Amino acid sequence: MKNPNLIQNTIAFVKQQLQHAEGGHDWFHIERVLKNSENIAKSEDCNLEIVQLGALLHDIADSKFHNGDETIGPKVAREFLETQNADEETIQHVINIIENISYKGGNFEKEFSSKELDIVQDADRLDALGAIGIARAFNYGGFKNRALYDPETTVNLNMSKEEYKSQVAPTINHFYEKLLLLKDLMNTQTGKQIALERHQYMEDFLDQFYAEWNGEK
Ligand code: ADP
Ligand code: NI
Repeated sequence: MKNPNLIQNTIAFVKQQLQHAEGGHDWFHIERVLKNSENIAKSEDCNLEIVQLGALLHDIADSKFHNGDETIGPKVAREFLETQNADEETIQHVINIIENISYKGGNFEKEFSSKELDIVQDADRLDALGAIGIARAFNYGGFKNRALYDPETTVNLNMSKEEYKSQVAPTINHFYEKLLLLKDLMNTQTGKQIALERHQYMEDFLDQFYAEWNGEK
């Protein structure tokens, strides 16, 4: 029999698991991704329950915080979903979402695709854009003790990857290496439209930032 409390129980589980998570990946990130996902899902032909579970469990054990181990998230998700008597097809789909959601950029081969993954991936990317995206980027930079900006080490497209990585890049660089590229990677119409608005907001932020940096405004 289907578990009528599956989503509520998953919310409670994720909240408890992420109690001590850092600011960029805490419960509120998950809650925003869930809301973004539900919003995008309204215009898509999809299985809403898979979308909700994927959104809720997508960062359940981020490999960044587990010595690069990418198997923990799927394992934790499977064990939890089994306690909820979720069917195997649902569990496997949610795991595929967790394993394939991460931004890799460039030309890696996508091993799995589904509408539900497209939706949750867009929703996760939206949370890296706009006002929230800016806040998260500087929060991350502060956590790593990075400079806000340094005119001398701003992205130089002629640098080799090694040269670039050897620099402790200021947070503003992250806009050029990732955030401003996301609008062209969106999967869904709704995601793309919201991304364009949030993109413009970040462009305006950068204009203002440089103007203030130079004492012009
Ligand atoms: P996700 O887990 O959502 O796929 P990441 O873990 O890469 O994405 O990033 C989480 C948040 O931290 C995002 O908002 C991202 O922009 C920010 N972030 C990641 N790397 C950097 C960085 N080098 N400088 C500033 N912000 C970063
Ligand atoms: Ni995320």
